Amino acid sequence: MNPTPVLRAGLDDDAAGFIALVDTCWAEYPGCVMDLDGEVPELRALATYYAQQNGALWAAEQDGRVVGMVATKPLADGTWELCKMYAYANQRGTGLAQSLVAAAETHARSHGATEMRLWSDTRFDRAHRFYEKSSYLRAGPIRSLNDLSNSMEFEYAKPLTGAHVQRLNAAAAVSAVPRLAAILKDCVDAGGNLSFRAPLPQEKAAAYMRRVASQAARGERILFAAWSDGILAGSVTLDLALPDNQRHRAEIKKLMVAPAARRRGLARALLHQAEAAASDAGRDILTLATHEGGEAEHLYAAEGWQRGGSMPDYTRTADGTPEAVVFFWKAIK
Ligand SMILES: CC(C)(COP(=O)(O)OP(=O)(O)OC[C@H]1O[C@@H](n2cnc3c(N)ncnc32)[C@H](O)[C@@H]1OP(=O)(O)O)[C@@H](O)C(=O)NCCC(=O)NCCS
Repeated sequence: MNPTPVLRAGLDDDAAGFIALVDTCWAEYPGCVMDLDGEVPELRALATYYAQQNGALWAAEQDGRVVGMVATKPLADGTWELCKMYAYANQRGTGLAQSLVAAAETHARSHGATEMRLWSDTRFDRAHRFYEKSSYLRAGPIRSLNDLSNSMEFEYAKPLTGAHVQRLNAAAAVSAVPRLAAILKDCVDAGGNLSFRAPLPQEKAAAYMRRVASQAARGERILFAAWSDGILAGSVTLDLALPDNQRHRAEIKKLMVAPAARRRGLARALLHQAEAAASDAGRDILTLATHEGGEAEHLYAAEGWQRGGSMPDYTRTADGTPEAVVFFWKAIK
C-alpha cells in the first residue's frame, strides 16, 4: 500500500468513493443513517455542486481509492464554510485530516476569507476534538436538521487571518480548554512563570483551564483567546471576583502566548481587549503580578503600566531558588 494519500481536486466521478466514505463515517455513530437521495443527493456530483457555489472540493486518494475528502465554499462577507470533512478511521492520526483542512483554509484565505465556520453533528465527538485542536471554537446555537438521523449540529468558527482576539462565551470557553491547556503547558515548559512548575503535566494544565472556563461561564472571570493566522495561540483572563472592598479593581491573570507566536503583538492585543472589558465592567484599576526579569515585564512597561514594587522571595523554583515578582497597576478611568 502507498503510505501517503495524495490530495487532488475532487471530481464528479469520485461519487462512489465519496458516498462510501461518508456512509462509513456516519455509521460509526449509532443512529446516523444515510438517505442518499433524500438528504445528500449532492454527493452524486459533488464537484459540480461546489463549483456552482464558487467553492472547491478535494479528494485524498490512496492506491486508486478515495480515503479522505473536504470542501469549502463562501458564505458571505469574508466568511467561508468548511464542509464534507471525512477520512477513514485507519487514516486518523496520520496527519491526513490536517492536510485536508489546511488545503481548504489556504484556498479560502487566498479567495479573501477572514473567517471559517463549520457544522458538526453533536455525536461526532472525535471530530470535535480534531476541530478544537485545529483552533476552531464552538460558536452560536445548535441547529437541528429535521432528518432521518435526528441530526443536531454544533457550529464551530475561527478567524483565519492576522491577529484576532475574541472574548469567549461559555460554549467557546469549554471548547477552548484543550488548546489553551496545550498553550499553558508550552509556556510553562519554555520557562514562563505562570504559577506552575515545569514540566507541567497535560492533565494538570487541562484541569486548570477547565476551572477557568467554568469561572468564565459563571461571569467570575472574562476569558479571551487570540489567534495568529488561524492558530489559537494566546489567552488572558480578567478576574472580576474580588473581595467586596476591591470591586473597583480587576486583575489580569495568565497572559500567555505560545512560544512560536511571540512578538507579533498578540499579548498587546489581548491586554487591550482586557482593559476595555474591565472598563465596560465598571472597574477603575487593573492590577497584576509578574515574574521579575521575564518578557512580560517589558510588555507592561511598554503599555504604560505603573510599577508598584517588587518582592524578592515571592515564588520558588522546584529546587527552592527564590524568584522575585513585580506588582503592576494601571488606572483605566
Ligand atoms: C509575555 C508574553 C505574553 C508576550 O507575548 P507576545 O505576544 O510575544 O507580546 P507582544 O508581541 O504583544 O509584545 C508587545 C510588546 O511587549 C514587549 N515585549 C514582549 N516580549 C518581549 C521580550 N521578550 N523582550 C522585550 N520586550 C518584549 C515589547 O515592547 C513588544 O512590542 P514590540 O514587539 O513592538 O517591541 C509572552 O512572552 C509569554 O507568554 N510569556 C510567558 C508567560 C508570561 O510570562 N506571562 C505573563 C504573566 S503575568
